[in-house]
Amino acid sequence: MKIVAFHSYKGGTGKTHLSANLATALARRGYKTCILDLDFRGPNLQTLCGVETKTTINDLLFDPDLSSEDILVSFEEEYQIPLFAAFASTDFRKMGEIVRADKKQRQRSLKRILKLRDELSDANFDFTIIDTSPGVQMESIDGLVISDATCLVLKADDFDISGTKSMVTQLYSLLDSINYVVLNRVVAESCPPEEGVWSSTDLEQVKKFENTIKNEMRMEVLTSIPCFCEVAREGSRNIFSLKHPDHPFSKHIDNLATALLEGFK
Ligand SMILES: Nc1ncnc2c1ncn2[C@@H]1O[C@H](COP(=O)(O)OP(=O)(O)OP(=O)(O)O)[C@@H](O)[C@H]1O
Ligand SMILES: [Mg+2]
Repeated sequence: MKIVAFHSYKGGTGKTHLSANLATALARRGYKTCILDLDFRGPNLQTLCGVETKTTINDLLFDPDLSSEDILVSFEEEYQIPLFAAFASTDFRKMGEIVRADKKQRQRSLKRILKLRDELSDANFDFTIIDTSPGVQMESIDGLVISDATCLVLKADDFDISGTKSMVTQLYSLLDSINYVVLNRVVAESCPPEEGVWSSTDLEQVKKFENTIKNEMRMEVLTSIPCFCEVAREGSRNIFSLKHPDHPFSKHIDNLATALLEGFK
C-alpha cells in the first residue's frame, strides 16, 4: 500500500478537493483506495462525500477497542468503484479533545494511526490518501510521517510561497517521503483555459512559475491545476470528478494520478 498526503502551509489551497478527487481517480482505475480525513481542526470531507458518520477517526484515537472496520465507510455500491473513507469528527467537543491532547495522548494517537495504517495494508488497500490541516499541527505531521509521498498544495500568491518555503526547509527536509509541489487554482492569461488545456502563452507563464517554485523550494512540481469556476461554484458539496468525470478538472486530476503512479515506479 502506498500513502499520499495532501498538505499546505496556508488553508484553502484545495487539499480536501484534491485528496477526494485523486482517491476517486485511483479507485476508477481499479485501485482499492481509502481517503483518511486527518484534518481534525476543520474537517469537511463528510460534507464533500455527503455522509454523516457516528464513529470517526477521533474515536479510534481515544478508544483502543476500535479498529478500521468500525470507521470505514464504503462507496463501492453507490459508485461501483473500490473507494472507501474514514472521517474526522465535526462534533466540537471531539475536535476540542484533539486540540487539548497532552503529550501522552499524542503518542497514543500516533500509535493508533500507525495501527490503522497496518490494518488498511492488511485489508489489501492499494492506496491511502490523507487530507491534513494546514501548517504544522501535530496530527498533520503524523500524517506526513506515515506517507510515501507528500503533495504540498500551493496557490499562486507570494505570502503562500514565502511561508511554505520556511516550512519546507524546517519540516519537509526531515521526512522520508518523496515530496512534491502541486500548484492549484492557477490563473493564467485565459482563465479557465479552453477545454482545460493551457494555450502556448499560458503554458509559458505556468512553466515560468513552476520553475520559480522548483528553484525556491528545491522540490518537483508534479502538476499545475487551473482555477475552474465550476469547481469553485459547486463549493464543497460533492466530489467534483464523480459528478463530472469528463470535465477538464477531472482530467487534470487523472493526470495527477498518472504522475504519482509514475513516481512510485
Ligand atoms: N482547481 C480549483 N479551481 C477552482 N476552485 C477550486 C479548485 N480547487 C479547489 N477549489 C475551491 O477552493 C476552495 C478550498 O478548497 P478546499 O476546501 O479543498 O481547500 P483546503 O486546502 O482543504 O482548505 P482547508 O485548509 O480549509 O481545509 C473550495 O471552495 C473549492 O471549491
Ligand atoms: Mg480541507
